[in-house]
Amino acid sequence: MKMKPIVKARASENLVDFFPSTPRKDLPYGFMKLACGLVLFMAGTVLGMAMRAQFNWYFTSHTELFFPEKMYSADCERETMVLKYFVKPIHLMHKMTDDELFWRATLLPKVQEYPFKRVPKVAFMFLTRGPLPFSSLWDVFFKGHEGLFSIYVHALPDYKINVSKNSAFYQRQIPSEDVQWGSVTLLEAEKRLLANALLDFSNERFVLLSESCIPVFNFPTVYEYLINSAHSFVQTYDDDSPRGRGRYNKRMYPAIKQSQWRKGSEWFELNRELAINIVADYKYYRIFQKHCRPTCYPDEHYIPTYLNMFHGSLNANRTVTWVDWSRGGPHPATYGRESITESFINSIRNSGAICTYNNEPTSICYLFARKFAPSALEPLLNLTSTVMDF
Ligand SMILES: *[C@@H]1O[C@H](CO)[C@@H](O)[C@H](O)[C@H]1NC(C)=O
Ligand SMILES: *[C@@H]1O[C@H](CO)[C@@H](O)[C@H](O)[C@H]1NC(C)=O
Ligand SMILES: *[C@@H]1O[C@H](CO)[C@@H](O)[C@H](O)[C@H]1NC(C)=O
Repeated sequence: MKMKPIVKARASENLVDFFPSTPRKDLPYGFMKLACGLVLFMAGTVLGMAMRAQFNWYFTSHTELFFPEKMYSADCERETMVLKYFVKPIHLMHKMTDDELFWRATLLPKVQEYPFKRVPKVAFMFLTRGPLPFSSLWDVFFKGHEGLFSIYVHALPDYKINVSKNSAFYQRQIPSEDVQWGSVTLLEAEKRLLANALLDFSNERFVLLSESCIPVFNFPTVYEYLINSAHSFVQTYDDDSPRGRGRYNKRMYPAIKQSQWRKGSEWFELNRELAINIVADYKYYRIFQKHCRPTCYPDEHYIPTYLNMFHGSLNANRTVTWVDWSRGGPHPATYGRESITESFINSIRNSGAICTYNNEPTSICYLFARKFAPSALEPLLNLTSTVMDF
């Protein structure tokens, strides 16, 4: 019997942060006293009767009710019947297949209002083979903004991310599959990241990043920029060359016409609606799976082409992830320790003039930058309190 109050305390604690009590009108004190007395008396009577009738049954078959640890961690089925765990799963690891996950992740509530206090979050989705060399830089970036972001890491299946308990990356790895760069398995990993992130109903914007990416503005700037944007940021353009239109396969016709074919950077930012549409798309995805084979690179064409075909008006048609292609060749420039200076970071931050948004130049073009070598970490950490303003 001693355990009982603990069960109650935990249950009501859980309910308190999810269901803020609605304000009530004040009632006269006398009436309240009478009503409370009556309710207590009735509750007592009912409880007494129930207890007597069910005492034996309770203590033989329902002993686990008095052991909350077991109830919360072992009994998964029970967890899903609590709204709190349905709208934000506590464990990222699960045993759903991709098809099961994609189906569940694309469920849309018909009721427009959320029955809980929903603060929109940005989901940061990291696609990596293994280590995250900039996790400590990101930790500085995220610090103090808990509740406004979620992190998801897709690494190779046998890789375990090793970070300390107080890192934002702690236990943020999702169930993964092997990924071959340049093949459709890369798209599968992107969809898997999106789908896992969609399971948290508070995630509103979804950013895909790699382990070589760094943030170039502070969290409040990134958050406001994305949450308040009417558009998503997926680069899409018509490239009239063998590396653009040349990768279109006539067998995709008539579902996808060459005039609809687009190219763009893999590193995207999507709002919830577009993320759901992409995870839910099997028709066009299967066409890419079948007809976009080496040297087609599905990760550079599928999302840009799909959005161009169906959701062009929701897209800013540019990416928010900076990279340096200025040297030419098949790979962008990589920046290590010796490249990191205040003026270099400033040049990325001030590149807004080269971006347009609704045909107007923007003050901020890029929020993130990629292709940084692990050796860049230390000088970047030194710049967090100055030019990066974290
Ligand atoms: C994880 O990191 C800690 C601290 O850096 C280190 O001591 C430990 O050996 C690492 N564990 C594994 C399994 O790599
Ligand atoms: C992006 O391109 C689409 C065509 O695919 C167009 O409808 C849309 O207006 C463009 N977005 C912006 C912000 O210009
Ligand atoms: C970073 O700052 C520390 C302490 O101020 C300094 O010792 C170190 O040399 C700096 N590193 C770089 C790469 O600037």
